This record gives sequence, C-alpha cells and structure tokens, in this order.
Amino acid sequence: MKRAVICVSILFYSLFAADLSRWARPDHIPTPKNNPLTKEKMELGRLLFFDPRLSRDDTVSCASCHIPYYYWTDRVPKAVGIEGRKGTRNTPTIINSAYLKTLFWDARADSLEQQALGPIEAKAEMDLSAGRLVKKLKNIKGYVTLFEKAFPERGITKETIAEAIASFERTVVSGESPFDRWVRGDEGAISEEAKEGFEIFTGKGHCKSCHNGFNFTNESLNNIALGDDDPGAYILNNNPIWKGSFKTPTLRNVAETSPYFHDGSVHTLEEAVYICGNGGRYKDLKGRSPFFRDRSLSIEEVRRVVRFLETLTEERPKIFEPEKFPK
Ligand code: HEC
Ligand code: HEC
Repeated sequence: MKRAVICVSILFYSLFAADLSRWARPDHIPTPKNNPLTKEKMELGRLLFFDPRLSRDDTVSCASCHIPYYYWTDRVPKAVGIEGRKGTRNTPTIINSAYLKTLFWDARADSLEQQALGPIEAKAEMDLSAGRLVKKLKNIKGYVTLFEKAFPERGITKETIAEAIASFERTVVSGESPFDRWVRGDEGAISEEAKEGFEIFTGKGHCKSCHNGFNFTNESLNNIALGDDDPGAYILNNNPIWKGSFKTPTLRNVAETSPYFHDGSVHTLEEAVYICGNGGRYKDLKGRSPFFRDRSLSIEEVRRVVRFLETLTEERPKIFEPEKFPK
C-alpha cells in the first residue's frame, strides 16, 4: 500500500514537473552556422543599434523605438519614425528575438540577419537605403576599423552590418522573473492568485495552445478578431485564410509593454486578456482563427491571469546607450 502511494506520488510529481519544464530556459541561444556569435560582432552591433547615424538625417536609431528602459518597446500605439512619420503597427519588444524563427508581426522575415536592414530602409522608420548606409559608414574611420576586426577581409557591407546587429540582438535575452524562480522550485516566488492564474492560462483559457514555452509563443499566425483592416500575413501569400493573421507575440514583461496588439489598440493588460479569453473583440468576425475560441473567462478569472502575467516581469533592462560612438 505504502509503495503504491509512493509510486502514485512519483508519477504525479513527474507529470507535474514535466509540465513545468516546458517553461524553463533553453540551454543555449540558437545562432546560425554562418554567423557565429563573437565579442567583436556583439559590441559592434550594439554601437550600430544605438547609433542615429543609421538613419537618413541622423535622428533615429533602432533604440528610438526599441527603448531598453521600456523593455525594448516604445509605449506608443504605433511607431513614430524619421520626421515624425507614423507607422502602421505597434513596436514589439526585441527581447528573446534570438529564439524566434520568424520576425515581424506578419512573420515576413526568417532571420534577424534578414530583418535588420528592413527598418533602416523603411520610409516611415529610418529611410536610408542600404547602398547609402554602406557609404555613410565607410566614411566613419572608427567603424572601418571595428568592421575589419569583427569581419576580417569582409569589412563594411550590407550583409556584415546585418550580421553585427543580429549578433547584438541575440544577447538581448530575458532575465530572471519571479515566474522563472517558481518554475525552478521556489514555491514562494509567486502568489497563490498568480498560481491560479497560471492554471487558467494553461487550462480553461487554452492560452498555451499559442503562448507556449520559455518565450510564451509558438509563433503561430492567428486572426484574433480585432476587426481592423491590416491584412497581416495575407500579403505574404495572398491566401485569404491568412487575412488579418498576426504572429503570436511573446508575453515576457507584457505587464510593462502596453499598448497591446499589432495595432496598439488596447491600453490595459486586463482588456487584452479579456479579449483573448473571450473570443476576440468581435466574436462573430468572419476569418477568426479556429484555434481562437471563446473561453468565457470571467472578470475575476481575467484578474488572476493578469496576476500571473505580472510574474513574467524581470528587472528593468540595464543596457543603455554606449557612452560614445565611433568617429
Ligand atoms: C520607427 C520605429 C522603429 C525603428 C527605428 C526600428 N524598429 Fe524594429 N520594429 C518596429 C515596428 C513597428 C516593428 C513591427 C513591424 C511589423 O511587424 O511590420 C518592428 C519589428 C522589429 C523586430 C521583430 C520583432 C518580432 O518579434 O518579430 C526586430 C527584431 C526589430 N524590429 C529590430 C529593429 C532593429 C535592429 C532596428 C534598427 C536597425 C529597428 N528595429 C528599428 C519599430 C521600429
Ligand atoms: C490561437 C492562438 C492564441 C490563443 C489561444 C491566445 N492568444 Fe494571445 N495572442 C495571439 C496572437 C496572434 C496575438 C497578437 C494578435 C494581434 O495583435 O493581432 C496575441 C496577443 C496577446 C496579448 C498582447 C501581447 C502584446 O504584446 O501585444 C496578450 C496579453 C495575450 N495574447 C494573452 C493571451 C491570453 C491570456 C490568452 C488565453 C486567455 C491568449 N492570449 C490566447 C494568439 C493567441
């Protein structure tokens, strides 16, 4: 009898432990074979990320929108670029983008290398063509030397610029949050309400069918019935089933990164969770993802899920602007 109890509790424990291990930090940061991480590339990438000279009129850097203090977002509904030009989408965080297989809200880039020049060339962001960017950097002696060191025999090209920026981004990984301590066995790290919220998140709410794993996303594309007219992933392949579909975002630090969704249309985490737990903003919208159903979460349940999501907040990032830029 005693042995049976032990067996059952081992079984129970291992099932439970197995369930939590899916949320644990992966052992390594994935890096492509053709762009291994080196200290030189990471440091050069950091300079490039913060340097406003990567924009046409020297006013906008990557960090103008991906602001470290705001967990690498900008806290406005839609991004604002060069000359105050307004973009059409909300700025996502770059934290943990190293773990993503697809980038942008509509998943149109397959790697950080492929993504990096996009915002530099975009008219509403930094508005500088890759050709002119290469010329501009070649005129800055300090950069010529740093590129020679980081990319011997290759120097400054649009590819090496992208590789350096991508290498820096791979170092922007989320730090430890109370949730991570709880996953590792520290029972007191999060409140009882947060634990109940996690149960709703993984159970009744079915949130984990999309927000899964260490980075809380399986990167699936879904239309969550927000009802705006952004085509989302539809523009990639013109297949109407993707109309209004967007990539599932990470939920790391989500309590600190409002406004929410691709259009920045929601300002409180409560409202965002309410929408996600109740079949979207317009439940009857044609084209809503079949995986995104009405789970009838009550206001009280939403509150608990929010308490849980708050445990995904790490300490405010401490990487700030480099003290000086190459001359
Ligand atoms: C004007 C504001 C702005 C600037 C400047 C900017 N970004 Fe972004 N960033 C955005 C917006 C908005 C998106 C989402 C665009 C979309 O999905 O169509 C984005 C998306 C991204 C993503 C994808 C994240 C994900 O989860 O898919 C990465 C990575 C990124 N930017 C890195 C950079 C880098 C590197 C630079 C500088 C070379 C940069 N950004 C400059 C606003 C900006
Ligand atoms: C079918 C997949 C799916 C399910 C299930 C799902 N989500 Fe999402 N979630 C998404 C997608 C896709 C977005 C982005 C949609 C957009 O902006 O158009 C999103 C966005 C969010 C956001 C906003 C994040 C940000 O940075 O803008 C929060 C918060 C969120 N989901 C929480 C939840 C919660 C809590 C649940 C469960 C009650 C849930 N989601 C269920 C796919 C899903």
